[in-house]
Amino acid sequence: MPQTWMITGANRGIGLAVTTELLRRGDHVVAAARDPRAKALAQLAAAHPGRLTPLALDVTSDESVAAARAALAGRAIDVLLNNAGVYGPRDRQSGLDVDFDAWREVFEVNVYAPLRVAQAFLPNVEAGQGRKIATITSRMGSIGANPSGALIYRSSKAAVNMTMVVFGNAVRARGVAVLLFHPGWVQTDMGGGGADIAPAESAAGLIRTIDASGMAQTNSFRDYRGEPIAW
Ligand SMILES: NC(=O)c1ccc[n+]([C@@H]2O[C@H](COP(=O)([O-])OP(=O)(O)OC[C@H]3O[C@@H](n4cnc5c(N)ncnc54)[C@H](OP(=O)(O)O)[C@@H]3O)[C@@H](O)[C@H]2O)c1
Repeated sequence: MPQTWMITGANRGIGLAVTTELLRRGDHVVAAARDPRAKALAQLAAAHPGRLTPLALDVTSDESVAAARAALAGRAIDVLLNNAGVYGPRDRQSGLDVDFDAWREVFEVNVYAPLRVAQAFLPNVEAGQGRKIATITSRMGSIGANPSGALIYRSSKAAVNMTMVVFGNAVRARGVAVLLFHPGWVQTDMGGGGADIAPAESAAGLIRTIDASGMAQTNSFRDYRGEPIAW
């Protein structure tokens, strides 16, 4: 039976690769993006008639989320994938020099938005059969790795891990599984051309691992192949 996934940041990078793979195998996708008319999404919609729903969504905006929620009222979502994310500036991310304005902006996208989106679309997920909310975080958010540098990005991913674990415990009794994933180091605008894997490989692994996950995996932090990552 085909599933319905909702994906934020579906217009490029990992979000687009996951959208592409789901459509290829016959699922339905609510492709949420700041620009839902992006060429890549229009091409996928044309290639898979009736199975891609473009949805305008700026995850940092309460108004945009409310409008998207109204547009999707009553639609069952099996899997909600919080994928949209930003890295922040390439400099001024050290323990000795940090751009505080940029830090706030990154937290808006990487920390507050996944929870805002999860809360807004929880009724849709509860109406679905899959009952999963997955968030793309990063191995760079692991405190156990004793990291240095990339302070803005790393702290945002550590914070979203904690945020979604608290959310996961709040929805555990409703039978909604909350999952956290490192997608690998992926060749996207964020990851760069020298990254380890292509977006399609990350997407295939994420889909396979999310398919195989349920309440037994709620509040787990794993990579796209399902390997556990130290908090
Ligand atoms: N690439 C890697 O190696 C890597 C590694 C670990 C984790 N990750 C995580 O994986 C996720 C996807 O990354 P990526 O590599 O695919 O990055 P990407 O190619 O830079 O794409 C980022 C996506 O997020 C969207 N986005 C940013 N701000 C948004 C907002 N306010 N509202 C809605 N959408 C917004 C972008 O939309 P616009 O086109 O409108 O900007 C774009 O679709 C992120 O959470 C990232 O932190 C990536």
